[in-house]
Amino acid sequence: LRVEDRGRLVTAANEIIELTDDDFYQDPHAVYRRLRERGPIHRVRLDGVLSWLVVDQDVAKQAFVEPNISKRVTSPEGQAAIAKHGGAEKFAGAVNENMLFADPPQHTRLRSLVAKAFASRAVRDLGPRITAIADSLLDELSAKESADLLDDYAFPLPIMVICELLGVADDDKDDFRAWTEIVVNESASVEERTSAGISFFTYLTELIAVRTDNPREDLLSELIIAKDDGDRLDQQELISMLFLLLAAGHETTVNLIGNAVLELLRDPATAERLRADPIRVPAFVEEILRCQGPVHMATARFTTAPITLGGHDIDAGEFVMISLAAANRDPRRYLDPDGVEPARTDNRHIAFGHGIHYCVGAALARMEATIALNRLLDRIPAMSLDGDFAELSWRKSLLIRGLAALPVRLSPP
Ligand code: HEM
Repeated sequence: LRVEDRGRLVTAANEIIELTDDDFYQDPHAVYRRLRERGPIHRVRLDGVLSWLVVDQDVAKQAFVEPNISKRVTSPEGQAAIAKHGGAEKFAGAVNENMLFADPPQHTRLRSLVAKAFASRAVRDLGPRITAIADSLLDELSAKESADLLDDYAFPLPIMVICELLGVADDDKDDFRAWTEIVVNESASVEERTSAGISFFTYLTELIAVRTDNPREDLLSELIIAKDDGDRLDQQELISMLFLLLAAGHETTVNLIGNAVLELLRDPATAERLRADPIRVPAFVEEILRCQGPVHMATARFTTAPITLGGHDIDAGEFVMISLAAANRDPRRYLDPDGVEPARTDNRHIAFGHGIHYCVGAALARMEATIALNRLLDRIPAMSLDGDFAELSWRKSLLIRGLAALPVRLSPP
């Protein structure tokens, strides 16, 4: 590891891409196109970590189901890979063991308990509540002449849905939102995050106690009572699960909505078509997931034995990173891969991952995005970008693909 490689993507051909500049995030696909021409998988230094980077969809799917690839960065093998190839500070957040960083059989157990809760009526029947939440935000938004669509709509909506899922009382929702904002905010100070984290932890512990005594029809009650062969989540696992749901379910949904609205602003003809025919919105959401999905890279994985992937022999203990953004625009897989075409039939993608870690919240995310867009199209007849498309700035994150801000004008021109 060379210290100067932090904040850079360095390829085997010694091409250097600065990850701290806007350029890469303005159009990461320009880089991926060049890489893909040279092969499906590449030896790279990615922000200081020596890794293999997958840019091809078939190879990505193979990596997702390869039994000799692990997600458990907290295991001795995972720690050895970090010591050898870098990434210690990156994976510090994975110290709390949760299912995203677990392998079978621990993963299988946690996943089956949470999957049961997600399949419950409490989640399936959430549509009308999400609609009411979207409408309450639009009541305020529609009174404004200009707004940041992320701050004023895309950001609060999934938090309010999570409050609904957990049965957070109305009086506590402002606190809940404030803590979430701090806990998920990469630029908050360590002190701020620790303090919000402690308040949050205390609150969730109390909420679990209340729901244990008085279960209701919500996801939290389902998680508390979810049972698998007499097994259930213990207190520590429940709290870790709640934090994981917040971390994995919030920013992702925010940016799916944000990226979709950006496309509607860019392409008013499509916006008109969807407004006239809301039944087309789900197919549009799928195309946004494929073309501009909110998760840029899957979370880190490493090999536990030598494997062959995409024609390369890879030793044990090497990191494998999967670019979902690249794989979802693979020209071997899609006709005109860069075009947002809701009518395309080759529309299956891996924006929610693949294999055993496939997103547990996928159905919920699709429902939230579809309702959010439908209500927005219905309630806000005239909306345009406040500024220049070329000047929009993207977040400098390899994990989340999303805008730093989305300023809009709401009054008719
Ligand atoms: C896993 C994407 C929304 C909860 C994943 C993974 C992806 C993903 C790619 C797999 C990561 C990997 O294998 O490295 C997305 C996208 C979303 C979204 C694009 C929104 C558009 C949500 C929501 C929730 C959620 C709303 C919950 C409320 C989870 C959890 C996992 C996960 C718990 C871990 C599953 C496991 O390890 O078995 N998601 N997600 N996600 N997602 Fe989502």
